[in-house]
Amino acid sequence: MSSPIVAVSRQIPAPSVEPLTQAGFDVRYRDVDSPCPPEELRALVAEADGLLCLLSERIDGALLAAGPRLRIVANMAVGYDNVDVDACTARGVQVTNTPDVLTDATADLTWALILAVARRIGEGERLARTGRWAGWRPGELLGMGLDGKTLGIFGMGKIGAAVARRAVGFGMAVIYHNRRPVPDSPAQYVGRDELLRRADVLVLNAPSTPETRHTIDAAALAAMKPTALLINTARGPLVDEAALVDALRAGGIAGAGLDVYEAEPVIHPGLLELDNAVLLPHLGSATREARAAMVQLACDNLVAVLGGAAPLTPVNRAG
Ligand code: DGY
Repeated sequence: MSSPIVAVSRQIPAPSVEPLTQAGFDVRYRDVDSPCPPEELRALVAEADGLLCLLSERIDGALLAAGPRLRIVANMAVGYDNVDVDACTARGVQVTNTPDVLTDATADLTWALILAVARRIGEGERLARTGRWAGWRPGELLGMGLDGKTLGIFGMGKIGAAVARRAVGFGMAVIYHNRRPVPDSPAQYVGRDELLRRADVLVLNAPSTPETRHTIDAAALAAMKPTALLINTARGPLVDEAALVDALRAGGIAGAGLDVYEAEPVIHPGLLELDNAVLLPHLGSATREARAAMVQLACDNLVAVLGGAAPLTPVNRAG
């Protein structure tokens, strides 16, 4: 019997495709560090039984039609808004993602952004590098202290909970809004309007869905405190970037820390000009440890499903 064929859409870090070759698969590895163009991806999956893809690849009906033998799409990300899950389910294709293994890395980066915006670290670093720094001044780049302030979390999943746990060390009270209250959460559940009104730092941790699109729009920004900070390490479409630029320019809110954008890799030009925005290039899970664990989990899902076992971290019920 011939070995199952597994397509890998783009270059992945260590352990890379080793778990797949060790499992005896025939691996078709696109060892290129850039998003796979749709046409190339269709050719890559033509004979494949399984696909390991990333959030840079769109998995839709056309792709599935080009890969009639596909039994599993293993997305190397916790978010799977790049995958048409209904189309996969309709064709009996298992979808898996990589939850848990990136929770701490993403929560840490969320706090890096909170601190960077609250303490104006981007501005300070730019000042230090320009040669225009004139020495210590008592009123220079004053930021916001976090102790005693309120952290608001929109989306209390595993990453939201990990962000909340870290707030204890900074002396912050935590409130949150979620589709449903989370049993046993030490944080206080509030309605969306109250979350917007009370948060000194508002963190977005919800998935990107039609319901969460532009959760933070002009009206939401207007409901926030003028001193509030907005942090997004979830998905760009949660925020109306044009409205955010207007609010940051007009002092509607005090600052924003963003790791994700509406149309990555494009960043709204208005954001690039603003000193009160700290901008990162989608680094949430970018630790060697988290990325290795994501690769391993995606491979483990392929090994399980193509070996006839249950997926470890399923997104849908395929069969
Ligand atoms: C995810 O996993 O969804 C991140 O955005 C990439 O690590």
